[in-house]
Amino acid sequence: MPQAPTKRYWTVRSSSIHNRGIFARCDVPYDVPIIEYVGEKITKAESLRRGEALVEKSKKTGGAAVYVFTLNQKYDIDGAKGRNPARYINHSCAPNCEAYIIRGRIWIYSLREIKAGEELTYNYGFDVDTWDEHPCRCGSDRCVGFIVEEKQWPKLLRKMEKLQRDKEKERAKAASSGVNGVKTKKAATTKKSAGKKVAKKAGKK
Ligand SMILES: C[S@@+](CC[C@H](N)C(=O)[O-])C[C@H]1O[C@@H](n2cnc3c(N)ncnc32)[C@H](O)[C@@H]1O
Ligand SMILES: [Zn+2]
Repeated sequence: MPQAPTKRYWTVRSSSIHNRGIFARCDVPYDVPIIEYVGEKITKAESLRRGEALVEKSKKTGGAAVYVFTLNQKYDIDGAKGRNPARYINHSCAPNCEAYIIRGRIWIYSLREIKAGEELTYNYGFDVDTWDEHPCRCGSDRCVGFIVEEKQWPKLLRKMEKLQRDKEKERAKAASSGVNGVKTKKAATTKKSAGKKVAKKAGKK
């Protein structure tokens, strides 16, 4: 086990990222344990069940916070129940903390020196396959727009570019097939342009 934090470095208050967050209540040195993420140890099956229930809840309420932390291949920690202030740590694309699993326990460490008042964040490390379910509002200069593990950012950018290309293709297709009256409106603009089109077509023959 790492040495327990020598002092209480954190305080909970409202955050511009999302609802509540954790902030440094004094300067924090580099590479120190700040707080442990504690909660109920649950199997992956139970974790999946709770995750699905949250998705259902978010459909009705428009959003639900996820407090499940991956511990290993068999178990997760559900930090929603009990006293676990670490659950208020928000995600950032430019985090100042990192979560480490040390002998079955989750510890949040500082990644650099942190000034009093700064919000404490880490990268949630979500998989790129569910990228569009988790828009990011961290507000950092490096924000990629979605909560995704940094290693998978190149893949995320490719997916976002593909989506953009597909949308452009769809728009072009809709415009040329007259969806929403686009073609009809153009054709009706002037008689002159209609005449030109006929001439062009005729010329091709
Ligand atoms: C572990 S909670 C973090 C604490 C949360 N702010 C609260 O008050 O309960 C995780 C949830 O916070 C929200 N969240 C955290 N970081 C975020 C970010 N960078 N952008 C958008 N939402 C974020 C998401 O709803 C996520 O499911
Ligand atoms: Zn971000």
